[in-house]
Amino acid sequence: MKLVLASKNQKKLVEMNDILSHLGVEVCSEAEAGVDVDVEETGTTFEENSLLKAKAVMEASGLPAIADDSGLCVDCLNGAPGVYSARYGGEGLSDEERYRMLLENMRGQMTRTAKFVSVITCCFPNGDVLSARGECAGTIAYAPMGEGGFGYDPVFFVPEMKKTFAQLTAEEKNAISHRGKALEAFKVKLEDYLNHV
Ligand code: IMP
Repeated sequence: MKLVLASKNQKKLVEMNDILSHLGVEVCSEAEAGVDVDVEETGTTFEENSLLKAKAVMEASGLPAIADDSGLCVDCLNGAPGVYSARYGGEGLSDEERYRMLLENMRGQMTRTAKFVSVITCCFPNGDVLSARGECAGTIAYAPMGEGGFGYDPVFFVPEMKKTFAQLTAEEKNAISHRGKALEAFKVKLEDYLNHV
């Protein structure tokens, strides 16, 4: 089975294929499916935005489509940046400018608990929808550490590993990350679904 990934992010494509290829599922890019969909993320939850993206690409391509919507929720900021993680501080900022702004907004805060959330949704042309959520708990460091990863990785500290996401290898991160967990949960649901259709 072929699934179209509703994203232009090459890293997500590789990660999804790594986990789902064992089911005989191939995840292809929008470009490979001949579509270029720009979805406005108007939802207020990860579930809503994930569904919006997958549905739009399924409708444009006529093929089953899979989307991930993710973000960082910081407790002392009442869950911000949340679904606005990619746009926190405005559209034109770099990843580094964004996490530096986060650190600035948390200056003097002793309660630094946070979590990453990922919701994977798959929409099928017959109207069926599968969805799975994954979370990873951590704290926001006082200063960035590490060079790997992307986004807020240098400031997201995982106490059990005593490292930020940016200090983990891709394999270590995938094993504990919100997206890794959502994908594993999704894989179980997809396997069950494929056995019953
Ligand atoms: P999305 O691609 O619309 O789901 O936006 C997710 C945003 O959340 C990204 O642009 C990052 O800023 C942030 N984010 C999601 N997952 C991660 C992660 O694993 N590490 C660092 N930042 C992440």
